[in-house]
Amino acid sequence: MTAEIPATIDDTAALLKDGRYVADRSLATALYLALKMGRPLFLEGEAGVGKTEIGKVLSETLGRRLIRLQCYEGLDVSSAVYEWNYSLQMIDIRISEAAGDRDREQIEHDIFSERFLIKRPLLQALEPDVNGKAPVLLIDELDRTDEPFEAFLLEVLSDFQVTIPEIGTVKAKEPPIVIITSNRTREIHDAIKRRCFYYWVDYPDAKRELEILSIKAPGADTQLSQQVVAFVQKLRSTDLFKVPGVAETIDWTNALVQLDKIDLDPQTVNDTLGVLLKYQDDIEKVKGSEAANLLQQVKADLAGRRG
Ligand SMILES: Nc1ncnc2c1ncn2[C@@H]1O[C@H](COP(=O)(O)OP(=O)(O)OP(=O)(O)O)[C@@H](O)[C@H]1O
Ligand SMILES: [Mg+2]
Repeated sequence: MTAEIPATIDDTAALLKDGRYVADRSLATALYLALKMGRPLFLEGEAGVGKTEIGKVLSETLGRRLIRLQCYEGLDVSSAVYEWNYSLQMIDIRISEAAGDRDREQIEHDIFSERFLIKRPLLQALEPDVNGKAPVLLIDELDRTDEPFEAFLLEVLSDFQVTIPEIGTVKAKEPPIVIITSNRTREIHDAIKRRCFYYWVDYPDAKRELEILSIKAPGADTQLSQQVVAFVQKLRSTDLFKVPGVAETIDWTNALVQLDKIDLDPQTVNDTLGVLLKYQDDIEKVKGSEAANLLQQVKADLAGRRG
C-alpha cells in the first residue's frame, strides 16, 4: 500500500498518528514542509525522544521502502555507497581464463558492470522501489561519523547522484525522502544543515507523553499512566547524568503492568528504577528519599487536579 504525500499539516499529523506516533504541531509542520518541498529533515535531540521512529513510521505509513544508513566512526564509501564484489569478480576471471572465451579487455569490461556491484544504502536510495516510488532514506546518528564522510554526504544530498568511475553517474529520478538524525555528540557541519530543514525533538509535555502511553502501553491503568508521566516529567528537571527519554517511560509503564501495578508506591519505584535510569550514580541519587519525595509530590499534584 502506498499513500500520497500529505497535503496539509493536519494530514501530516494524522499520518504519523496512523503509524502510532504522536507529534506536536511544530514537528508536523516541519515534516510537512520537508515532504512538500523535497528537502531532507534534520532531527536533533536527546536519546530516546523518538527521532529514529519518525523515519520508520514515515516509511510504513507512506508505504515506501525504508533504507537505513546507521552511522558510526570510520563509516566509509564502501559501506555507505557501493563496493565491488571482489570474490565474484575473481570467480568470473577464473572461469573466463579456463574457458578462454574472452580477451582481457572484455573481461575487464564485464567485471565492472552492475552485476558485480554491491549497492549500499546511499546508492540503493537513488533507485525507486517496486511501486516506482522513491524510498525513505534514514541516515541515523550522523554525529557518529567523521567529517570526511559528512563532506561526501553533502555531495549526495545536493544532487542525489553518485558517480561510479567504471560505470558512470547514477542519478535519482525522484529524490528519496531523507530523514537525518543526530544525538548532538558533536555539531554537524553547517553546510549539511543548510540543505535540510532542522527540527529539535524535545521531550514531550505531560499531555503528549500520556497520549504516547495510551498508544504504546495500552494495557496500563489510566491512573498509573498519569503517575508515571508526572514522575518522569519531574525526574527530567532533576540534576541527573541522563534523564529518561520517552523510550524509558514506555518501558517503565510496561514493566509496571507486568507487575500488575495500578498505583505507584515507593518500594516499587525503587525496585524498578533500572528500567528508567541507566546510570548507577543516577539510580543511587534517586533511590530512597528522593523517589519517595517525588512520588509524594506527584500524588499531591494529581489529587489537587482532581479535587
Ligand atoms: N512521539 C512519540 N510517539 C510514539 N512513540 C514514541 C514517540 N517518541 C518516542 N516514541 C517511542 O520511543 C522509543 C524510542 O524512540 P526512538 O528510537 O525513535 O528514539 P531516538 O530519539 O532515535 O533515540 P536514540 O537517540 O537513542 O536513538 C520508540 O519505541 C518510539 O516508538
Ligand atoms: Mg535513534
